[in-house]
Amino acid sequence: MQTVVIGGNGGIGNAFVKLLVGKGTNDVIATYHNTKPAQELTQNDNVKWFQLDATDESAVSDFCEKLGDVGLFINAVGMLHDDQHKPEKSTRNLDKDYFIKSMTTNTLPTMLFAKHMPLHFRHKQSAVFATISARVGSIEENYLGGWYSYRASKAALNQVLKTLSIEWRRNLPNVCVVALHPGTTDTALSKPFQKNVPAEQLFTADKSVMLMSDVISHLTPEISGKFFSFDGENLPW
Ligand SMILES: NC(=O)c1ccc[n+]([C@@H]2O[C@H](COP(=O)([O-])OP(=O)(O)OC[C@H]3O[C@@H](n4cnc5c(N)ncnc54)[C@H](OP(=O)(O)O)[C@@H]3O)[C@@H](O)[C@H]2O)c1
Repeated sequence: MQTVVIGGNGGIGNAFVKLLVGKGTNDVIATYHNTKPAQELTQNDNVKWFQLDATDESAVSDFCEKLGDVGLFINAVGMLHDDQHKPEKSTRNLDKDYFIKSMTTNTLPTMLFAKHMPLHFRHKQSAVFATISARVGSIEENYLGGWYSYRASKAALNQVLKTLSIEWRRNLPNVCVVALHPGTTDTALSKPFQKNVPAEQLFTADKSVMLMSDVISHLTPEISGKFFSFDGENLPW
């Protein structure tokens, strides 16, 4: 059974690949986007790497065609800022291109994989389809405001995952579909926003992934359609 990590060279995605390799998991399939992963991981016989733009449907479809039966699928692709944009404090900062890029990067890939992965979950064994979301995507828990595009793209992602869990309960009842919150994690994505985060609340990617892996290990198809934090808390949508 294969384990697939999309965005396997990001801070969190890479920590997933390293953890899997460290545990001796074989048949790990990982993808990177612009930057090639470190040699120690590309030369490991247990991991096969593919370059992939997860927002490009034909690339996603071609990639999925190469897969066999999948037991665990993790999408760790995402963006919060780029060279031109940072999250909005107010609607005054709204920029259409940033909004669209946030939706395209944070929401669309999960829909594309949901469309092209079903064949690989038809094996009937218990399996997991997980995407790294973010607690700030919770509508219920939005007390601070701001970050319109990121929040909206993660809220949309959460809705996609919930909706998918309902569709797959009917035709892929062996799969648990979940959104996972990693906690504030020291990666390129969070770097510019770490100033006010208390040290004990800023996780290394290794720690965040170790905690999320424990959550994943307790998932069963019966609890599909939920949003879990790194500590196992069931978050409100
Ligand atoms: N770090 C945190 O505190 C935190 C908190 C809550 C949620 N999250 C979520 O956790 C996930 C992982 O984030 P991270 O912290 O590991 O950030 P990161 O280190 O910036 O990793 C993000 C990864 O996404 C990849 N990516 C971006 N666009 C892509 C595309 N079109 N196709 C394929 N890959 C693409 C990036 O590759 P390139 O750089 O090569 O483009 C990068 O490897 C994200 O969904 C993020 O929203 C993170």
